[in-house]
Order: sequence, then structure tokens, then C-alpha cells
Amino acid sequence: MEKRSSELININELGDRRGLLTVIEEHKTIPFEIKRVFYIYGTLPEVRRGYHAHYKTRQALICVSGSCRVHLDNVKRKTDVLLDSPTKVLILEPNDWHEMYDFSPDSVLLVLSSHLYDPEDYIRDYNKFIEVYGA
Ligand code: TYD
Repeated sequence: MEKRSSELININELGDRRGLLTVIEEHKTIPFEIKRVFYIYGTLPEVRRGYHAHYKTRQALICVSGSCRVHLDNVKRKTDVLLDSPTKVLILEPNDWHEMYDFSPDSVLLVLSSHLYDPEDYIRDYNKFIEVYGA
């Protein structure tokens, strides 16, 4: 399977005396077309979720309120990313096993996705993940 590197990018904040505004455009700020949007909120502090990788789906994760952390594992390297600003965007490639944790009580994690929801595009078994992306 083709492998790409997930990446944390910083995007511009447009501000004036009224407050702040931040823009994300497909194929411009993020490298794919946005087919689906979902958001994760009301997460209890001790919860860890995700525990999967994908075959095709590319995603962009933005904590638009509060903060959370994302554990990434691309077989070669394990990293942990802190999302604590609406201007931080994690471009998450399909080949990264990911787990989200340390949600603050006010955390709203916005996810932009390159594909519609398809349970067949999930790899939820870690051994299967190594089998697919380990080579
Ligand atoms: P789940 O995959 O368990 O979330 P996470 O990976 O963050 O732990 O999703 C929770 C539920 O929501 C599960 O029943 C599948 C459903 N779901 C959809 O129906 N559509 C979607 O786009 C997503 C992301 C989840």
C-alpha cells in the first residue's frame, strides 16, 4: 500500500476588532476534496477513541474549541500531536493508526474527510494494520 506522511500545519488567523476567523479550502489549505464532516464533542476526559487506520480516507483534524491529543503510528514512527488551537490542522493520512485522547471538557474536534462513511474502509485490528502497512 502507498504510504504518505501525516503532517501538522498551521493556518492563518484572520482577525479584526470584531474577533477571529479561520478558513479551510479543499485542494488549497488541505490536499483533498471534502466529502464528509463530523465533529467529536462531549468526550469524557478519560476516554481514548479512534484505534484504527484506513485504506483510502484522508482526514484533517482541527480542535476548534478546547484541546485534545492524537497518537499516531505509521509503523516506523509513533508520535503524539497536541491540538490546542483552531489554527492547527493535522493532515491525517490513511496509513496512520490513530488514537485521540486527553479531551478537555470544552473540546470540539472537527474532522474533514475525503470519503463518505464506509465501515469497509476501516482497519480496526492492529495486526491487520501491520500486515497492510508494515512492509
Ligand atoms: P467510531 O468510528 O467508533 O468513532 P471513533 O473512531 O472516533 O472512536 O464512530 C462512532 C459511531 O458513529 C459508530 O457507530 C459509527 C458512526 N459513524 C457514522 O455513522 N458515520 C461517520 O462518519 C462516523 C465517523 C462514525
